[in-house]
Amino acid sequence: MTAVEEHGAPMGFGPMHRKEDARFIRGRGTYIDDVQLPGMLHGAVLRSPLAHARIVSIDTRAAEAHPKVRAVITGQTLDGLGLAWMPTLSYDTQAVLATDKVRFQGQEVAFVIAEDRYAARDALALIDVEYEPLPAVVDALKALDPDAPVIRDDKDGKSDNRIFDWESGDKARTDEVFAQADVVVEQDLLYPRVHPAPLETCGAVADMNPATGKLTVWETSQAPHAHRTVYAMVAGLPEQKIRVISPDIGGGFGNKVPIYPGYVCAVVGSIVTGKPVKWVEDRAENLMSTSFARDYHMRGGIASTKDGKILGVRVEVIADHGAFNGTAQPTKFPAGFFHVFTGSYDLRAAHCHVTGVYTNKAPGGVAYACSFRVTEAVYLVERMVDLLARELDVDPGELRMKNLLRPEQFPYTCATGWEYDSGDYPAALQLAMDIAGYPELRAEQQRRRERGELMGIGISFFTEAVGAGPRKHMDILGLGMADGAEVRVHPTGKAVVRISVQTQGQGHETTFAQIVSDQLGISPDDIEVVHGDTDQTPFGLGTYGSRSTPVSGAAVAVAAQRVRERAKVVASAMLEVSPDDLEWESGRWFVRGDPEAGRTIGEIALAAHSTLELPEGVEGHLDASCVYNPPNLTFPFGAYICVVDVDGETGKVAVRRLVAVDDCGVRINPMIVEGQVHGGLAEGVGMALMQVMAFDEEGNNLGGSFMDYLLPTSVECPSWELGATVTPSPHHPIGAKGVGESATVGSPAAVVNAVLDALKPYGVRHADMPLTPAAVWRAMQGRPLRT
Ligand code: CDP
Repeated sequence: MTAVEEHGAPMGFGPMHRKEDARFIRGRGTYIDDVQLPGMLHGAVLRSPLAHARIVSIDTRAAEAHPKVRAVITGQTLDGLGLAWMPTLSYDTQAVLATDKVRFQGQEVAFVIAEDRYAARDALALIDVEYEPLPAVVDALKALDPDAPVIRDDKDGKSDNRIFDWESGDKARTDEVFAQADVVVEQDLLYPRVHPAPLETCGAVADMNPATGKLTVWETSQAPHAHRTVYAMVAGLPEQKIRVISPDIGGGFGNKVPIYPGYVCAVVGSIVTGKPVKWVEDRAENLMSTSFARDYHMRGGIASTKDGKILGVRVEVIADHGAFNGTAQPTKFPAGFFHVFTGSYDLRAAHCHVTGVYTNKAPGGVAYACSFRVTEAVYLVERMVDLLARELDVDPGELRMKNLLRPEQFPYTCATGWEYDSGDYPAALQLAMDIAGYPELRAEQQRRRERGELMGIGISFFTEAVGAGPRKHMDILGLGMADGAEVRVHPTGKAVVRISVQTQGQGHETTFAQIVSDQLGISPDDIEVVHGDTDQTPFGLGTYGSRSTPVSGAAVAVAAQRVRERAKVVASAMLEVSPDDLEWESGRWFVRGDPEAGRTIGEIALAAHSTLELPEGVEGHLDASCVYNPPNLTFPFGAYICVVDVDGETGKVAVRRLVAVDDCGVRINPMIVEGQVHGGLAEGVGMALMQVMAFDEEGNNLGGSFMDYLLPTSVECPSWELGATVTPSPHHPIGAKGVGESATVGSPAAVVNAVLDALKPYGVRHADMPLTPAAVWRAMQGRPLRT
């Protein structure tokens, strides 16, 4: 029996079963496809079969003649409304429906609205589009070649495929450090294009009420408030007349941050037909056209002394952003937080230069559980450290231990300017090594190598930067990244908390209730968490980049603290003592020195709504709100150790063990934290060994189904071995740091390092992800095995 089963819901922090699971496990969740409205019509999107082609003509007459079709919308229709193009979250523009050219395979060309889903899909085949094919840019490394076709010729004066050039760190100083170093190791690394592939695909139901002029949109959105504001700005609709509802969401992972053409078409469809319109994409559409992640081509370098003191890291990146820059990063950071690639080490200098390019592929570059490109950053530095260990012929664990930041160095400003808030890195690595039995593993590896067996041990140590972010330097489309929260205690002592973030399975209905419970001593079961409805919740920028706990969680904690302070004044009136004479203990204010004389939060709540005479200036009722502007990001960290066995005949990798020690500061609900880590580890195994969104030379997507784009299952995953250290964030009201993406960030490097460690007897230095059996087998070919 677990502690949870023994004791029921704990007050405050601790393991607690998720409150929302009661409806999920009974099949009572409400996802987009569950939304049914009277008279609702259904939409389907016609997509481009070509990656790059000029549109000569579109003939919709046969589709319009279909008996069940109510309307067909093309780019031309939208052009008339000024809606053919929409802004992306990165100040680019994206075609809602193509007018001039198609720029990736799967791009939206027309939208059919019919009486049922089947008729809408059937009618797509009746639309006749004449295309004039153009050569496609598929390889990002060739996108800037002088003879590369220009993809975005819609943009005035655009004569190449460059989106941005961005750098961070001190180049001159870094070059100097590299010039003086005893050892320099360089390596080309690809972090391939992967897809978040949430369980629920994207969709929307739009309902424009012609009588009230109110537009209600149910959509798979990780950021309902931001979407509403963008709709208001783009369509010119008054913001108070738009309600965005993000109901239960079947996984986001960054995929549901952008606004997709399908959402806009559903809205336009509802305006045009006067009826609610539902659009839900299928799996192939989700994989081919919605936001991907990664696609970073990196040339990394690491410099050290001959006895292994790491001095500097540098990297040149070509970032493939697809046909429209649809990435979602804070404005000042077009490469996200990639410049945290200095990792967990005390470096003298670091520099990165990132060039974003357009290619004829789906747009995006969103966080797939990666905290704004921190996954790429961690992969870079952790591969480089392993390559350095190989060069110096030292143990990679020892090399890391020698170079990790020490606890007394915090707060630590890294070479690219981040201020890491807190950490005890050596303790986390030591704990991971203890759980793994590191020396014994190395001894076993030695014995196996002597027998010609390929066993590998891979370490990765990561520092994340999560909780975007401080308003003074973080915004998306000009909207600052503060979060609102409102806490209200009802007369009977039960509470409701309204939050601006939107859960997609992370368990916010439980953990945010626990935060209020911790502050007010009300059982989490008696606290309702309201989220995902712009008419019901305060403004905020949404859930991605593990920002919910660092920002919204802090807002909730501060709002609850304000309620507690108001309760103190009411209690002082009830007890007829000065507020200064009161002390707080788990759910009650009592008179200092007289613990019996006290009032519980429930008694205080009733009194606050009663006729009790309150002190001057106190209005009654018991509620408070907060808009939390974080002073800094939080910096969770962790040490992961992976053990693999590689089949020398087939190249097949079996992940035998994966030890994950995470430090996310104070854990609100350790059970949910562990669940988050489990999911992220599985994603890491998937990316390292199985997943790539590949294209052929013409830009045809080769990953449009789960037969081709592989997801890890329990068969590929070992039983995870978790550990934890707790180093509170000094600036977060409850000391918590984010954790939702930690394991996705940390684990791919551990798995890849393990596979390359296994291949060491073949002298293989590096191979790019995904390390499929074919890739591993190829890496071994033509190399003699040295035992
Ligand atoms: O933004 P997102 O919810 O994806 O990420 P997060 O803030 O890291 O939180 C993921 C889940 O873990 C939420 O339910 C959090 O409240 C919970 N969590 C926790 O219990 N303790 C922490 N220190 C961090 C997160």
